[in-house]
Amino acid sequence: MISTTVSQTEPPLVSTRRFDREGEKLLTQYETLLSNQSVHWDAEYRKIRILGKGGQGVVYLSERQGTDLFRLPVALKMFSPESYRDVPSYVNDMARIADISSRVAVIQHDNLLDLHNFIENGGVRIMVMEWIDGYDLRELMSEQVYGQSRKRLRPERWAYVNKVILCEGPKQPRFKPGIAIQILRECLAGLAALHRDGLVHGDLKPGNIMVKRTGAAKIIDIGSAMDLDQISARRRWSPAYAAPEVLSGNKNTPRSDLASLGYVLIEMLAGQNPFEGLNDLRSLLAAKQNLDKRLKDLLPADVSGNEMLLNLCQKLIAPDPSKRFPDAQAANLDRKGAADFHRQLVKGDLASEYEHDLRLWLEELN
Ligand SMILES: Nc1ncnc2c1ncn2[C@@H]1O[C@H](COP(=O)(O)OP(=O)(O)O)[C@@H](O)[C@H]1O
Ligand SMILES: [Mg+2]
Repeated sequence: MISTTVSQTEPPLVSTRRFDREGEKLLTQYETLLSNQSVHWDAEYRKIRILGKGGQGVVYLSERQGTDLFRLPVALKMFSPESYRDVPSYVNDMARIADISSRVAVIQHDNLLDLHNFIENGGVRIMVMEWIDGYDLRELMSEQVYGQSRKRLRPERWAYVNKVILCEGPKQPRFKPGIAIQILRECLAGLAALHRDGLVHGDLKPGNIMVKRTGAAKIIDIGSAMDLDQISARRRWSPAYAAPEVLSGNKNTPRSDLASLGYVLIEMLAGQNPFEGLNDLRSLLAAKQNLDKRLKDLLPADVSGNEMLLNLCQKLIAPDPSKRFPDAQAANLDRKGAADFHRQLVKGDLASEYEHDLRLWLEELN
């Protein structure tokens, strides 16, 4: 049943109207707006600061200026033409991004970035998107954030953060398993929504995953996303996080996204990038084909000793795609998937409220 808050006994608002000519004009404009099929107005955005830079351009925190002093914070990504051969190749690639963005915009998944618009200004393409007030995973795994946290927290609180959220790792801070799996599961949920829609993300890495101040994770940067059935002429991915089959020039599939997310998981758990220092394609490929055998050495004892966690990592990054989970939903929800690990923690009374813990910690960083 649809309920209404307007009481039956209240007199209709129009009964008190005594409009002069200005009022009548306003009313006519209102009626025109209701009857027209489309509406149009100019938009103004004020840049506030740079949120990040990547291979595709610069992202600004901006304020959309509304009327009556209304202001809406949004993120604007200006797509750089610098890396393109010529204008037509920029324009073609932008059309691909616009097409994929329209598809992502209707998915409306909590763990995917919300897209608002894709516009052009003097030929330069700009994406208007939700501003995610938080940190990308690259920042969260940095020594800088860890040090900042240590400086700010009282000793008891710092001890709790080290026990439950993150602690010192061999090269960079490492997340504790419960938190790492929480972030992974939210990414898998967002990724599953893309996969269900026949899309692959194509460039999952710490810089393309954000944790909001609320503690929720979001996948961002769909600039490399593509339709499963269309092989894009221009492919942009980060060698350190790309699946071995992608490095060897094959198609990017949902299973390739899982391998990338698996590398991110291992980095979160291990406190080091599993391919640190490897720059040429051949040694990267060899290291990826060998990673399942190196897992036990890479991961700390509390992780490598946990059969379920080890198995989960293995089924994400198996060098042979057919040995991985088939897609993101399976990796999250199938037997021995990420959710099963969380259930194991709950049964052992080792679970905490991870999203809440993340939110508190991020609040303290601010
Ligand atoms: N919507 C957003 N809200 C907040 N920060 C963002 C947003 N989009 C991007 N960023 C920041 O900017 C960085 C670069 O943006 P990204 O879209 O990944 O660009 P590129 O395609 O060039 O890698 C991200 O790693 C993140 O730190
Ligand atoms: Mg990026």
